[in-house]
Amino acid sequence: MASSATFTLFISTSLLLLLLCSLKKGDALEGRQATESRRLQHAHTVKISSLLPASVCTSTKGNIKKASLKVVHRHGPCSQLSKDKANAPTLSEILSHDQSRVNSIQSRIAFNSRKNSLEDSQATLPSKSGSSLGSGNYFVTVGLGSPKKDLSLIFDTGSDLTWTQCEPCVRYCYKQQEPTFDPSKSATYSNITCTSPLCSQLSSATGNSPGCSSTTCLYGIQYGDQSFSVGYFGKEKLTLTSTDVVNDFLFGCGQNNQGLFRGTAGLLGLGRDKLSLVSQTSQKYGKYFSYCLPSMSSSTGHLTFGNSGTSSGVKFTPLLTDSQSPSFYFIDITAISVGGRSLSISKSVFSTAGTIIDSGTVITRLPPAAYSAMRTTFRQLMKNYPMTDALSILDTCYDLSNYTTVTIPKINFFFNGNVNVALDLTGILYAASASQVCLAFAGNSDATDVGIFGNVQQQTLEVVYDVAGGKLGFGPGKCS
Ligand SMILES: *[C@@H]1O[C@H](CO)[C@@H](O)[C@H](O)[C@H]1NC(C)=O
Ligand SMILES: *[C@@H]1O[C@H](CO)[C@@H](O)[C@H](O)[C@H]1NC(C)=O
Repeated sequence: MASSATFTLFISTSLLLLLLCSLKKGDALEGRQATESRRLQHAHTVKISSLLPASVCTSTKGNIKKASLKVVHRHGPCSQLSKDKANAPTLSEILSHDQSRVNSIQSRIAFNSRKNSLEDSQATLPSKSGSSLGSGNYFVTVGLGSPKKDLSLIFDTGSDLTWTQCEPCVRYCYKQQEPTFDPSKSATYSNITCTSPLCSQLSSATGNSPGCSSTTCLYGIQYGDQSFSVGYFGKEKLTLTSTDVVNDFLFGCGQNNQGLFRGTAGLLGLGRDKLSLVSQTSQKYGKYFSYCLPSMSSSTGHLTFGNSGTSSGVKFTPLLTDSQSPSFYFIDITAISVGGRSLSISKSVFSTAGTIIDSGTVITRLPPAAYSAMRTTFRQLMKNYPMTDALSILDTCYDLSNYTTVTIPKINFFFNGNVNVALDLTGILYAASASQVCLAFAGNSDATDVGIFGNVQQQTLEVVYDVAGGKLGFGPGKCS
């Protein structure tokens, strides 16, 4: 089927590292040459133009992989949902939505009684929509019902319940790209009753006790200030690809939906709770999935269920569970290097807060001491470039408008189990324009706030979730 054929990613070659190997011989001293050579070895030398978002979609048709869905960035050129340019969020808006999401995650992962959900206003940036799930997210298109209707859903490893807006939209449905799902036109939809044990599973998946409307189980899930979905809890046939169909998939049929996902039809929950897609398909896919998030919004990636043979070069770090926050995927950062220099950060800095990996958070959040060490070294290695204003939460920005090429320090993350992950250039810099190119990291305001390895840093990596095996893998991706 042509519709399910494109899963391989194409990465713009301009993003490949263009390492300068040759140095001018002549007047420079041997020692200076050696230093320079070492500096370049730990740096990306790239054209400025390659740092800026592309405007052309470069998705290619690849081989059909089993149960593999095409991943698209919502606001990139490959997105049908981004045609509405007037309503597209600015980078600052994306970043302030991102902060709302982080606040909401951090209030859910409370490591001690110091924090509660009402107390987290200190780091709040103005967020007009109040959407805590942010907008810098990736979506996939799945089929729901019989006959199946295509729906574009944000996929989210930070939550569990899958939901979509549903007719008759008893209270409210926001505007979405595809026609709203209508269960009355599907031969396979049925409501879950209030007395069903399935209904009570909603408590842990949503954090809210289920409700009841006549005999139908009601779910409600909120993601922050004004963002929520409320509706009937139902089951339905879910078509991932033409050959991969999940019968009786439990999901939310949203009758009152607000705040978040402008354009998309809802959310695909890939957390670890019982009701997540990962858990509901555990018989079929063994709680194993992987994805590659495309870089620079220019190309498409994949989200693949099941283990069809791990691609070579994938290194695994233990996946940890926090009994207080069982939905999240915890991993351990052990060290960070910038420009080949290992930052001096004591191990306790990372272990105090813990770190989750999240597909929905845009910018990686580090404990304050770790971010400050990173920033100091990065600024030092970038001292030849003029700094400029901060961009929302990003405080280390450069005006590179006078340069055609720049040399950017490489950044590597080390995870428990000797896993060394070299970030793609797009995971190092976040560019609003050539005159405002920023270090794509932010520090938490509190040392006990959980760290988050966000989606900008995951770009072009193959990220493998072997949930049953208790490990998470990173591979040099390029999403192919
Ligand atoms: C599901 O339950 C709602 C509320 O009780 C009802 O309006 C709707 O018709 C039901 N749908 C089906 C297919 O039974
Ligand atoms: C760019 O170059 C011009 C001309 O040399 C100079 O006046 C300006 O300050 C430079 N801008 C930056 C941001 O370096």
